Amino acid sequence: MTLAQQASTQQAGTQQSGTHHADLQGAVVAPTDSAATWWRQAAVYQIYPRSFADANGDGIGDLQGIISRVPYLTELGIDAVWLSPFYPSALADGGYDVADYRDVDPRIGTLEEFDAMVAALHGEGIKVVVDIVPNHSSNDHVWFQEALAAAPGSPARERYIFRDGKGPDGSEPPTDWQSIFGGPAWTRVADGQWYLHLFAPEQPDFNWANPEVRDDFLETLRFWSDRGVDGFRIDVAHALTKDLTDPLPSRAELDSIPRGGGEHPIWDRDDVHEIYAEWRKVFDSYDPPRTAVAEAWVERHRRPRYASAEGLGQAFEFDLLTQAFDAAAFKEVVVDSLALAAESGSSSTWVLSNHDVVRHATRYGLPPLPTGVGSTEQDMKQGAGWVLAGAPEDQLDRSRGERRARAASLFELALPGSAYLYQGEELGLHEVGDIPDEARQDPTFFRNPGVDKGRDGCRVPLPWTRSGSSYGFGDGDAHLPQPDWFADYSVEAESGVPGSTLEMYRTALRLRRELQTEERLEWVATGREDVLAFRRPGGWLTVTNFGAAPFPLPAGEVLVASGPVADGALPGESTAWVRQ
Ligand code: GLC
Ligand code: CA
Repeated sequence: MTLAQQASTQQAGTQQSGTHHADLQGAVVAPTDSAATWWRQAAVYQIYPRSFADANGDGIGDLQGIISRVPYLTELGIDAVWLSPFYPSALADGGYDVADYRDVDPRIGTLEEFDAMVAALHGEGIKVVVDIVPNHSSNDHVWFQEALAAAPGSPARERYIFRDGKGPDGSEPPTDWQSIFGGPAWTRVADGQWYLHLFAPEQPDFNWANPEVRDDFLETLRFWSDRGVDGFRIDVAHALTKDLTDPLPSRAELDSIPRGGGEHPIWDRDDVHEIYAEWRKVFDSYDPPRTAVAEAWVERHRRPRYASAEGLGQAFEFDLLTQAFDAAAFKEVVVDSLALAAESGSSSTWVLSNHDVVRHATRYGLPPLPTGVGSTEQDMKQGAGWVLAGAPEDQLDRSRGERRARAASLFELALPGSAYLYQGEELGLHEVGDIPDEARQDPTFFRNPGVDKGRDGCRVPLPWTRSGSSYGFGDGDAHLPQPDWFADYSVEAESGVPGSTLEMYRTALRLRRELQTEERLEWVATGREDVLAFRRPGGWLTVTNFGAAPFPLPAGEVLVASGPVADGALPGESTAWVRQ
């Protein structure tokens, strides 16, 4: 059996730059220069600022901490960082409850330090992406405080979604809707009205039918763009516009309305794209244009619109992270996603871990989650491992999880498109499962007692050194407790150690820059159902063995491998890159 010259079942994507180019689906990509298209195949590293590096020892990661680790990021070889929210926040949802969109939380830094951080990263050629949270603000936001102080029906209330309650005295919520974090989606205020929050009660939803809200976000986008930010990650991009005409549907009715048609009252409505068309004008008024990526948990066929050049430009592909470690499942997602990217003219994105899901080293070491991926927002997120319930840690096979995670990461980093990496995955970090209840912070834990452990386990501050206070995170205790095993996963423990996960990422990211050309791949037959192989232009072959039996690699130079290649055989649950 040989790998050579066989099936080419899929070619997708577009030329990265240069002249007009018609891809196989017939879409035409306008000529672009690389300053404007850096994002198409970028490796973007997500920093969760409170848990990355703490420069002043108060237990909370900060901008000075990020500045101090710029050499680490440079050596890692990423193209951009995406910062989760660092704005003033009471932390009801890890910073996704923003009290002021145009400032830095004083516990994290100052605007001057933000500018210094951007300069330090730009100095190393690393782009900066910040998180925009437009669906809801914090209840501490000045507008929500004004809304509370104002009367029902007032302009201040019209910036959010207030309704009278039901029942003779209005003491029942307008509907029985549940929030994504569990519990009711409506909360009552002192004068008896109720406001809508799809997430925590501290996260009131904005009324996007109000032009004032629209204008304010345009100003926020300009504010950060003017400070040199290169792009934006858009939180819950599929929820902003809502059809809340009376009578409102019940929870059961709401759940039964199909989500893929653009007219669901809440999720993924067609009219949300009017907002992004306006944003696009702001992005394109800068040189180079600012970029954006949508966090939109939508059905696959709905993704291209978010990713289109008239809209946000890129959208997260979460289908890979909802799959088990399985050859057929991985291939199907890649084939479909490249086709969808070609449809939108964007490049695909790939994600295996982020601050909302169980880290992939742990997911792949657990028995498959009992929940299937259904069609409601909750179902999709549960499928992605938002809920650790039902994933008993005593059944965790740590080394298997790590082995598979390394294989999946090398597979991901070889795909055409951009890879979004989450801080700590380059160390092979596992989820921290045993955080004591009293130390937990995530609202999903508090709002689903006994059911959901929440997302704190992937947000534990990074280990930089083998020992010392908070393993080099800072001079004091970390804001979430770190387990003893962090020592062996620290940057210090893995640096310079051949075969460590950190060195594998460093090598792969360096090679990726060198090998990456056009956004295309060609599948290569392997003769085994549990082995995938694909070739990128220029003779860059990637082989992933999802099975157990070793697989004889074809002739060529093994550039990097996630497991030990002996006598030309790729071990089970491993990936190799081969130059042919
Ligand atoms: C997004 C964020 C998540 C947050 C939620 C509400 O899904 O990634 O962390 O809790 O939005 O803002
Ligand atoms: Ca600090």
